[in-house]
Amino acid sequence: MELGLVGKRAVVLGASSGLGASCARTLLAEGADVTACGRRTALIDAWIAENDPHVQTRASSLALDLKSRESVAAAIEDIHARGGADILVLNSGGPPTTTALDARPEDWPAQFQAMACSLFELTQAMLPGMIGRQWGRIVIISSSGVEQPIARLALSNAIRASIAGWAKTLSAEVAPHGITVNLVLPGRILTDRVRQIDGETANRTGQSIGDVAAASSAAIPMARYGTADEFASVVTFLASERASYMTGGKVRVDGGMIRAV
Ligand SMILES: NC(=O)c1ccc[n+]([C@@H]2O[C@H](COP(=O)([O-])OP(=O)(O)OC[C@H]3O[C@@H](n4cnc5c(N)ncnc54)[C@H](OP(=O)(O)O)[C@@H]3O)[C@@H](O)[C@H]2O)c1
Repeated sequence: MELGLVGKRAVVLGASSGLGASCARTLLAEGADVTACGRRTALIDAWIAENDPHVQTRASSLALDLKSRESVAAAIEDIHARGGADILVLNSGGPPTTTALDARPEDWPAQFQAMACSLFELTQAMLPGMIGRQWGRIVIISSSGVEQPIARLALSNAIRASIAGWAKTLSAEVAPHGITVNLVLPGRILTDRVRQIDGETANRTGQSIGDVAAASSAAIPMARYGTADEFASVVTFLASERASYMTGGKVRVDGGMIRAV
């Protein structure tokens, strides 16, 4: 299938590791020009350097700290200077794990700023260009917690529900302009974030990380964690020309983990 990504300008957030890095690499491999954002630009530059020299010319890193409004404003200016974005992959770091009972009051505004407000602001800044070109793709890396809230991830469950509401609202507003907005819901995809959460569970319960991961995998019909590349394939399809009639939706990449239909 020809994805129609050649010449499209993709901006991927949280592209230094894990899901975001894999999405950025896959979009690059499929022909898009990629601006890969994150705080650890050295990691981004390192994966860009692994590509053939002619591919490297289509990729660049951009320093962005989603916790900082100044950094978001500077990134918006920089992306405009690079010609704007046809494709936005919205991603952020995951919040601290906590129960709803124990959540610290100061974490709510701070995490909402980094995980939601910064993404909303960046998207709004890119939309006039997409509307002018009558084409755009906004793909949001979300969580299975949107459909089945995850224990001890109260901040994540609550903030991602808000992002889902924003995405659905926006999808209807921009659909007449050839712009799609979709959420992709990872279940358990093996990345640093999942290793960190399994490590915390191991510390809390006294199990080994291996036992935690084995029990976690056993609860998934496919009996394993997914890979970041499996996740990125779905994001790349949604970002492509071929997904032109999919919008306002949620796609699970979870090996069957969410039990509801
Ligand atoms: N992996 C899964 O199975 C899974 C499941 C459900 C939800 N999720 C969610 O999906 C998202 C990506 O997860 P992942 O597994 O790929 O995690 P990861 O490997 O830890 O990657 C997180 C990415 O977010 C970036 N980031 C963190 N804080 C940032 C900040 N303040 N400003 C800008 N970028 C920041 C990191 O880059 P820098 O540190 O370089 O800035 C990194 O590139 C997270 O929100 C996670 O909670 C993942």
